[in-house]
Amino acid sequence: MPILQGALRLTAALGLATLGFASLSVYAAESVAVSVTIQADKPGAKIDRNLYGQFAEHLGHGIYEGIWVGENSSIPNTRGYRNDVVAALKKLKVPVVRWPGGCFADEYHWREGIGPRDRRPVKVNTHWGAVEEPNSFGTHEFLDFAELIGADAYVSGNVGSGSPQEMAEWVEYITSDTKSTLAEMRRANGREKPWKLPYFGVGNETWGCGGNMRPEYFADLYKQFATFVKGPRDNRPLKIASGANVADYHWTEVMLSQAAKHMDAYSLHYYTFPGRWENKGPSIGFTEDAWASTLNHAVRMEELVSKHSSIMDKHDPDKKVALYVDEWGTWYDPEAGRNPGFLYQQNTLRDALVASLTLDIFHRHADRVKMANIAQMVNVLQAMILTDKEKMTLTPTYHVFEMYIPFQGATSLPAEVQSPTYSRGEWSLPQVSVSAARDAAGKLQIAFTNVDPNKGAAVSAKISGVNFKAASGRILTASTLDARNTFDKPEAVKPAPFKAAKKGNELRVELPPKSVVVVAVE
Ligand code: AHR
Repeated sequence: MPILQGALRLTAALGLATLGFASLSVYAAESVAVSVTIQADKPGAKIDRNLYGQFAEHLGHGIYEGIWVGENSSIPNTRGYRNDVVAALKKLKVPVVRWPGGCFADEYHWREGIGPRDRRPVKVNTHWGAVEEPNSFGTHEFLDFAELIGADAYVSGNVGSGSPQEMAEWVEYITSDTKSTLAEMRRANGREKPWKLPYFGVGNETWGCGGNMRPEYFADLYKQFATFVKGPRDNRPLKIASGANVADYHWTEVMLSQAAKHMDAYSLHYYTFPGRWENKGPSIGFTEDAWASTLNHAVRMEELVSKHSSIMDKHDPDKKVALYVDEWGTWYDPEAGRNPGFLYQQNTLRDALVASLTLDIFHRHADRVKMANIAQMVNVLQAMILTDKEKMTLTPTYHVFEMYIPFQGATSLPAEVQSPTYSRGEWSLPQVSVSAARDAAGKLQIAFTNVDPNKGAAVSAKISGVNFKAASGRILTASTLDARNTFDKPEAVKPAPFKAAKKGNELRVELPPKSVVVVAVE
């Protein structure tokens, strides 16, 4: 992406009439010029809707309290699932949910999570807080939940402490329509018809919590386990191989060279944090340096996806194996007074921008990246939703996912951006990120993110191949870097209407500092 260094700086009070909503101090700022060229007549790859997937692990209050409260709870629920959370997730059109982990997956034994709940064994969740795991949310509860919110199921199998037989039997239990003993057991437990099982993960972070393996060892083990992941012809899951951590390109080289023809997808995990692993930084009350560092780390996804993809291209030039970024998101220090193993953190405008920048990167790599699962759905890391007993709030990240819904299944379009950089101390990144696509209804959708918290951006977009008059949509911004929704003020950060005008042949978009805008071109 070419960067226009030292670009013209305009001082402009941004057009409040054009923005079409109430005046806030954030909308009057120094503004820089940014030019964008969108080629609406050069369709690229389809943006798989699974890029908007999520991850729900048995971790802290991610499942218990966040999704599942049980039928006898005073919190309004449907068969044990919180009504408020289910409604919010349905609105988000979640395409796919990955479960039960994460690290938890490699100590999960599926037989302990079926049958009458009061007879299921209580285990210790050794990875996450050493708390009791009641096993009340098991295979039936997860697959019914996925159906309830209209999402596909992505089940992650246990390689680290399980066996190929246990894995094979789990798949049979879920998918078989025969009279096999396992299928009959499923029926006796209340589910007559098999569930659809489109995605099955073989191992999780096998380089770490999933078994501390070498890639050479795991490549063989992967092939062994994956051989026994079957399922009937019309319900055969795609197999996902546990992949690399961040920039471990050797892992990708070995896995793809040795096992590519046995996998449908290969996973990558990358988390964003402003500091070091031992001292990541707080989720609120952070400095502008931490803001810049976080966003700078977030856009590293571009380099990671490009480099892993180019290794994949070498071994799989026809792109038969997809890249699934099945864990990504921000990871900050745990909040004081909470179990540090629960990974509960607040979610601010900064997280919203991490989400929009990352989704833009996935759009640009839509030819190889076919699924991504933000970590995690509720109450854990970069959550969509936070709950506290009967209260619930949607996070700024939720709002970005909701604003980006038109991109699900859309056709990506080339967008070239000439933007100055936003620099702060050692951190520097393009000030404006843009993503364009033609949605399923044929409408041109454009997303803009302005990462600079102090300067606006006056964007002029040339759009070839389409006649347009103007564009309208929504904006997400706020007056502080760590603006957030709380249980008392659940609507402090939420999208507002936004309009952009046509001048000459160009679309003019006035982006306030630290904002995300998605518009449909009319
Ligand atoms: O999402 C939290 C943890 O991060 C997952 O359990 C693990 O796979 C990763 O290290």
